Amino acid sequence: MFKKNQTLGEFIIENQMSFKYSSGELSTLFNSIRLAAKVVNHEVNKAGLVDIIGNVGEVNIQGENQQKLDVYANEKFIQTLINRNIVCGIASEEEDDFIAINSLDENHQNKYIVLIDPLDGSSNIDVNVSVGTIFSIYRRVTPVGTPVTLEDFLQKGNQQVAAGYVVYGTSTMLVYTTGDGVNGFTLNPAIGSFYLSHPNMQFPESGSIYSVNEGNYIHFPQGIKNYIKYCQREEEDRPYTSRYIGSLVSDFHRNMIKGGIYLYPKSSLNSNGKLRLLYECNPMAFIAEQANGKASDGFTRILDIQPTELHQRVPFICGSKNMVTKAEEFMREAQ
Ligand code: AHG
Ligand code: MN
Ligand code: MN
Ligand code: MN
Repeated sequence: MFKKNQTLGEFIIENQMSFKYSSGELSTLFNSIRLAAKVVNHEVNKAGLVDIIGNVGEVNIQGENQQKLDVYANEKFIQTLINRNIVCGIASEEEDDFIAINSLDENHQNKYIVLIDPLDGSSNIDVNVSVGTIFSIYRRVTPVGTPVTLEDFLQKGNQQVAAGYVVYGTSTMLVYTTGDGVNGFTLNPAIGSFYLSHPNMQFPESGSIYSVNEGNYIHFPQGIKNYIKYCQREEEDRPYTSRYIGSLVSDFHRNMIKGGIYLYPKSSLNSNGKLRLLYECNPMAFIAEQANGKASDGFTRILDIQPTELHQRVPFICGSKNMVTKAEEFMREAQ
């Protein structure tokens, strides 16, 4: 039962009963993510006023120039999680290796690990366009009482216990799932609280928006080229509308509300595409499926892919179910 004006804090407490692992620990974990999101939101809103835009002059493990907000958001989320002493390990797009929380959790009693893309769409910061944060939560697979290992992080997406994102947009929203549907909360900046604004979010089964970086068109596989041509053809409900922000969180959020498909295929430039399986694709795929959408690498369900390395990249096709299924048909036909 959804209650209008319910705060995220109230919602978390009320719904922890129905959560399959029913633990206050997950609630505490969510509370720390909620807090870090508010801190980062505050800083994002000041970009342009304070010295927070631009490069730090470092290149991260992904080979990307780190932005000041990438570093800031990374530190805030990691510090907040560490301080609450609620997770045993954290992996981030901005860190070379995973972080084992040994200092506070010295007897290794914490059960959860978090994977995070602290600032998604960071190339949009300097031009005042929406950015986001993506998070993914698992239970560790190695025994409690022992240090966390890489194995704990390389779990299939179908093992996620929760995932979500924050979109720092015209308003700031936190959207998440614990495997029981998807709910969206909007931040009231005057009060500093998130309120349930989008209960039970669902992708329309079909849509009319396609989101892809068409500048890479000539480098795409034939199946993707054919699908893009299909989107552009004048037939039935087509041509579709092209919308691409260049920030996965924002593109996904729009497509979930309006109906659409997001594609970041492999190309002759990037043999596995660009998006990271653990920090971007798995959490968004979990949310998509929980919202009646679909996520695929063109052939395989994203959530069934066995990760082999922390920063692994995969082709990503995600959105309204019928549209993703259609794109997969084009991929198969062009094989
Ligand atoms: P991040 O800013 O976390 O590195 O992610 C950027 C990703 C994603 O948000 C976006 O959809 C995509 O990169 C855009 O890539 P192109 O500029 O190659 O289209
Ligand atoms: Mn990046
Ligand atoms: Mn990203
Ligand atoms: Mn990022």
